[in-house]
Amino acid sequence: MWVPVWRWWQSGRLVDLVLSRVGSCLEAVAGCVLRDVFLWLVLLCLFCVCVLCFLWFVWCGVGVWGWLVFVGVVVVFEWVWLVGLSFWRGCMRFAVLSCARGSYSTQRLRAAAVYRGHGVRVLNTLRFAIDLSGPEPDLLFGGRPLSDYDAIVPRIGSSITYFGTAVVRQFEQMDVYTPNTANGIANSRDKLRASQILSRHNIAMPATAFVRSRADVRSAIERVGGAPVVIKLLEGTQGIGVILAPEVRVAEAIIETLHSTRHNVLIQSFVAESRGRDIRALVVGDRVVAAMRRRAKGDEFRSNVHRGGSVEACELSPEYVQAAVRSAQIMGLRVAGVDMLEGTNGPLVMEVNSSPGLEGIETATKLDVAGAIVDYIANQVGFPEIDVRQRLSVSTGYGVAELVVLGNADLIGKDLDQSGLAERDITVLTLHRGTNVIPNPRKNITLEAGDRLLCFGKLEEMRSMIPKRRHRRPKVQKLPPKPLPET
Ligand SMILES: Nc1ncnc2c1ncn2[C@@H]1O[C@H](COP(=O)(O)OP(=O)(O)O)[C@@H](O)[C@H]1O
Ligand SMILES: [Mg+2]
Repeated sequence: MWVPVWRWWQSGRLVDLVLSRVGSCLEAVAGCVLRDVFLWLVLLCLFCVCVLCFLWFVWCGVGVWGWLVFVGVVVVFEWVWLVGLSFWRGCMRFAVLSCARGSYSTQRLRAAAVYRGHGVRVLNTLRFAIDLSGPEPDLLFGGRPLSDYDAIVPRIGSSITYFGTAVVRQFEQMDVYTPNTANGIANSRDKLRASQILSRHNIAMPATAFVRSRADVRSAIERVGGAPVVIKLLEGTQGIGVILAPEVRVAEAIIETLHSTRHNVLIQSFVAESRGRDIRALVVGDRVVAAMRRRAKGDEFRSNVHRGGSVEACELSPEYVQAAVRSAQIMGLRVAGVDMLEGTNGPLVMEVNSSPGLEGIETATKLDVAGAIVDYIANQVGFPEIDVRQRLSVSTGYGVAELVVLGNADLIGKDLDQSGLAERDITVLTLHRGTNVIPNPRKNITLEAGDRLLCFGKLEEMRSMIPKRRHRRPKVQKLPPKPLPET
C-alpha cells in the first residue's frame, strides 16, 4: 500500500501493483459502505472529481503532460484517502513480512487490513537489516530506519527460515506484536523438533522414528509398524520430500541415498486408513476459523494442493478441533494451519504450519480467513507474547517450575489452599490435568494423582518438593570388605 508508485520495480510487477491498488480501493469502499458512510461519501466525491477531470481532459484534448498530472492527482487522492482513513479510525499499522508480495495470501491479508481501515505495508523479509549497535534493539528496512508498527504478520518461507526468524525475533525485542513467535516458527519448521514437542504433550501423531545409522533403519521401520512406511525430509514443504516406501528394502535404499546427500529423514508409519485424505484446520488464537478436507489426486497419497490435491469444506468434530487448537498453542503459534490424518482412533497430527496458505482454504470454505487473522491481531496488539520463564526468573532465587503430583504424594485429595504451597511462597499459575489446562486454578480445586502444577516461587522450596530422580542403571555392587581368595 505505501510503496511509492515511482519505486514500483522494487515492489514487484507493475501490473500486480496496479491491480492490488485497485483491489484495495474497491475492498475499502465495500468496507466503508458497511461501516462508515461519511468516509464513503468522501471517497465518492474524490471519485467524481477524478471522473469530471477525466471528461474535461478528454473534451479539451490535453497532451501527455496533462494526463500525467491527472494520474498524479488520482494517486495522491487515493493516498490521502487511505492515510486519512487509518488516522480517522485511529487504526493500527501492520507490516506483512513476505517475500512474495503478489501471492494470494499476502494480498488477502493486506486487503483485509485495508478493509478494516488499518495502515498496512508489505515488507520484503530479505530487505531487513538487524541493528544491534545502539542501546535499543532496532531494525533497518532497505537501508533506512523502520517506521513504527503495532503488529507484524510474519509469512516466512522455508528457504529463509534462519534469517526470517531472526527478523521476527528482533520485532519481538522491539515489543511489536507478532501472532507467531520466532521460536514457534523455527520449531514448527523442523518436522522432528515439532514431533518431539507435540509428543511431550500427548498429542496423537503417526508413529515416528529418527535414526542416523544404516544399521538402525530396519529396526526403526519395524518399531513404527513395518512397511509400507512414509519417509520425510525434516524441512520439506508442499509434499516435496515426502515419499512412500512400499517395502523395507526400498525404504532402506531411499534413506541411505538421502543420508549420503546429508539429508536427515523421519521414518513414519503409513496411515492407510486416511486413504490419501487429510484435514487442514486453520487455527487463529484459540479457535478453528476454517477447516477443509484435502483429497489426493489419482493414486497419489499426498493430498497437498501443490501436488494436485482437491479441497472441500468440512465440519470438524470437537475432538479434531481440540487436537488442532492444542497443537498450535503448544507450538507457540496463534495463526497456524494444522494438518491431521483421520486415523481409526481419531485425529493424528502430522504438522503445524506457521505460514499457512489462504487460497485453498478460503476458496473451499468461502470464509474470510484473512479477516479473522487481522481481527485477532488487532485485538491482541496490547498483549505481545512474552517469554514468561525469562521474565519471571529475573528475581534472584525465584523461578518457574513444574511440580507433578505423584501417585503416593500427600497432596492427593487436598484442596489447593490446603496444599501448603502458598505458605511456602509458591503460586500456582496453571494446573494441567490430562489434556485439560486450568489457568489460575481456584483454591478449592482438589488435587489428583498425575496433576501437573506450573508454579512460580522460591526455587529452593520448589526443588525440595521435586522427588529424587530414580537411577536408571542398577547400582554397582559394593566390593566385599575382604579380597576374594585367589583360585
Ligand atoms: N504418515 C502418513 N500416512 C499417510 N499419509 C501421509 C503421512 N504423512 C504424510 N502423508 C500425506 O502426505 C502429505 C504431505 O505430508 P506432510 O507431512 O504434511 O508434508 P508437507 O510439509 O510437505 O506438507 C500429507 O498432506 C498427507 O496427505
Ligand atoms: Mg502438510
